[in-house]
Amino acid sequence: RKILFASSEVHPLMKTGGLADVSASLPTALAQHGQDVRIFMPAYRQCLQKIEKIQIVATLKLDGYHMPVEIIEARLPGTEVIVWLLNSPYHFDRNGGPYSHPDGYDWEDNAARFSLFCRAIVALAIDEAGLDWKPDILHCNDWQTGLAPALLSPRENKPDTIFTIHNMAYQGLFERPVFDALDLPETLWSIEGLEFYGLMSFMKAGLIFSDQITTVSPTYAKEICHAEFGYGLEGLLSYRAEQGRLSGILNGIDYEEWNPAIDPYLNYHYSVKTPNRKKKNKQALQQKFYLPQSEQTLFIGLISRLVSQKGIDLSIEAVTRLLEQGQDVQLICLGSGESDFEQALRVLRARFPDKVALTIGYDEKLSHQIEAGVDVFLMPSRFEPCGLNQMYSLRYGTLPIVRNTGGLADTVVDANDDNRKSGTANGFCFDEASAEALYETLERAIALFQHPRRWRKLMITAMEGDFSWENSANIYIDLYHHVNER
Ligand code: ADP
Ligand code: GLC
Repeated sequence: RKILFASSEVHPLMKTGGLADVSASLPTALAQHGQDVRIFMPAYRQCLQKIEKIQIVATLKLDGYHMPVEIIEARLPGTEVIVWLLNSPYHFDRNGGPYSHPDGYDWEDNAARFSLFCRAIVALAIDEAGLDWKPDILHCNDWQTGLAPALLSPRENKPDTIFTIHNMAYQGLFERPVFDALDLPETLWSIEGLEFYGLMSFMKAGLIFSDQITTVSPTYAKEICHAEFGYGLEGLLSYRAEQGRLSGILNGIDYEEWNPAIDPYLNYHYSVKTPNRKKKNKQALQQKFYLPQSEQTLFIGLISRLVSQKGIDLSIEAVTRLLEQGQDVQLICLGSGESDFEQALRVLRARFPDKVALTIGYDEKLSHQIEAGVDVFLMPSRFEPCGLNQMYSLRYGTLPIVRNTGGLADTVVDANDDNRKSGTANGFCFDEASAEALYETLERAIALFQHPRRWRKLMITAMEGDFSWENSANIYIDLYHHVNER
């Protein structure tokens, strides 16, 4: 099938989180399974700097915008997959992130930037851009692409549309005057359209007008049909689920990029056959951050956007308690985000300089070295649509400590007695979103860590798990073939 895969971030061209990883690894897996897939994304300044050969393949004029835009063609670095980039320098050629200024505030014109992107998606979807390639399937991702299925719905000869929810917490909500300024069809402003409690919702447009909705884990697909995780859209989502139009497909991870046996960022390679060699990475990491090099110390890792979703406050509180009690643990943390969390982590490092290492910022290489070097990975998320870091951890024989929610619940099996006996345990899980519950779980991990043979068994189960795209790519392909037969 011909698949147009639209996303606002694609690794390594632009990334703020897991959406970028998936928007590169899923299309690559689809291509390996014989699908003709093209990725479409905005041409941010950083993307243009990373692309080797820039080739303009189309110029077009989009409704509601004065300046013509260009379509640039390139290859996703390291692959043969074609990426088309929407070049509109006025909208995308700036310093800062894809959604925000360098100082973290949202761009004032995000609605205009991403409705331009959506109009361009429509043009490619019905082959109006003159690229002589007409997709059978349009696969949209998250709110930044939500208007595309809505604008496409009255058009003839349109492809089947799939909309994947990566995170319900970000919906692309704007005031009514913004809607007016975008020159969109007035008919869209209704309860059966993108109106949401007096605001305009990009996400809702995607949920209503696409043929099929997916999200990134089976558990999250159920959770978003309830008020706690649905953010006011749970009614609509339940309705679509009843129609058989909402399903959860677990993300995979890129098995070449995340492979401890060949990872170029590691000095010491290891695999499920040589798990003991993981220790060398622990030593190297302790050394790099001037922490005492001790094998018996439980080394705890955390790599994350520092936002409340990730339960950072729970992690800080629980680990502080362990450190105050003088327990034999070390923490290494890599992340950036809300300044209160950054500050709290700085305070923790200042209090326990020989126990806590901290890097505020974004660092690809270090993230691999942490995954390889630590014993356990902290991910006590309040909600987690899928989560990739727990899967990277499992593959690296690092046991994840997670809250039982979303994709975490679908990938991590708690090391309780039963699961250890049946040989399925690969990490630690807890239910309640409290520092107390996390603390108790960390205590369990510390206790098990005293038994190297038991620990090793957990590591091996973790490393033997299959978190590749193999299974899920096939589920997507099946969906692409049967969207409108359902
Ligand atoms: P989310 O998309 O909600 O942030 P995921 O677990 O799906 O969560 O994906 C996060 C991705 O971002 C992972 O690839 C992770 O390694 C990466 N990441 C997050 N923070 C950093 C950081 N500070 N430095 C390097 N990589 C990071
Ligand atoms: C979102 C979610 C995360 C998921 C990622 C990729 O960023 O927060 O849980 O893994 O999308 O689907």
